[in-house]
Amino acid sequence: MTDSLSSALPTAVRLTEYTKTEQIEILGDSADPFGVADAGLTWLPKEDHFGIRQKGRLVAHAGLLRLPISIGGVGTQVVGVGGVAVAPDMRGHGLARLVVSAAVDHARTMGPQHGLLFCRPPLVALYQRLGWRTLEQDVHVEQPEGPVVMPLRTMWTPLRDDASWPTGEVRLLSLPM
Ligand SMILES: CC(C)(COP(=O)(O)OP(=O)(O)OC[C@H]1O[C@@H](n2cnc3c(N)ncnc32)[C@H](O)[C@@H]1OP(=O)(O)O)[C@@H](O)C(=O)NCCC(=O)NCCS
Repeated sequence: MTDSLSSALPTAVRLTEYTKTEQIEILGDSADPFGVADAGLTWLPKEDHFGIRQKGRLVAHAGLLRLPISIGGVGTQVVGVGGVAVAPDMRGHGLARLVVSAAVDHARTMGPQHGLLFCRPPLVALYQRLGWRTLEQDVHVEQPEGPVVMPLRTMWTPLRDDASWPTGEVRLLSLPM
């Protein structure tokens, strides 16, 4: 955990609303705030939202969505984590750790055994710090034109103490989150 905010760590709360307006409040109104436009993917919005407010301003977010998946030919569900965002001037103080932890704590109550996220390669080390593991295999996801191999990195985290990742082909049976 880094420095100045650690003496008075804010808490993450469940958000009743998270729309484009709230995303812009955190990340600004740039064209590609997550740096994934090159991948050309269609994404799903998230259903459950967690955020951190500082002096009334929304400065961090993580979203959750339960999704169907096939692993080794067996249908199950995962909790997808997405839309992880921290305001540019607030980065490096542990806010992503806080808000992702709050989201994952909630995900543990949702039923599925695994959390899943997709990220750009430079963020793999950050999520590893937060306890996520990389999935070193192709992961298929749905797109409007049909299934494609996810071009970003896929990471997972156990939502139960004994959860390991099953072997076999991985197909997310929905658009990615
Ligand atoms: C990615 C992002 C959310 C990180 O937010 P942040 O508040 O700066 O992250 P944190 O300070 O909570 O860092 C989390 C942990 O990762 C570590 N970390 C940060 N950058 C790292 C890096 N490049 N390599 C390894 N670890 C790193 C931190 O030290 C911290 O670990 P610690 O708590 O054990 O010290 C933020 O940069 C952002 O909003 N980026 C734009 C949107 C985006 O790309 N979102 C990701 C979508 S998948």
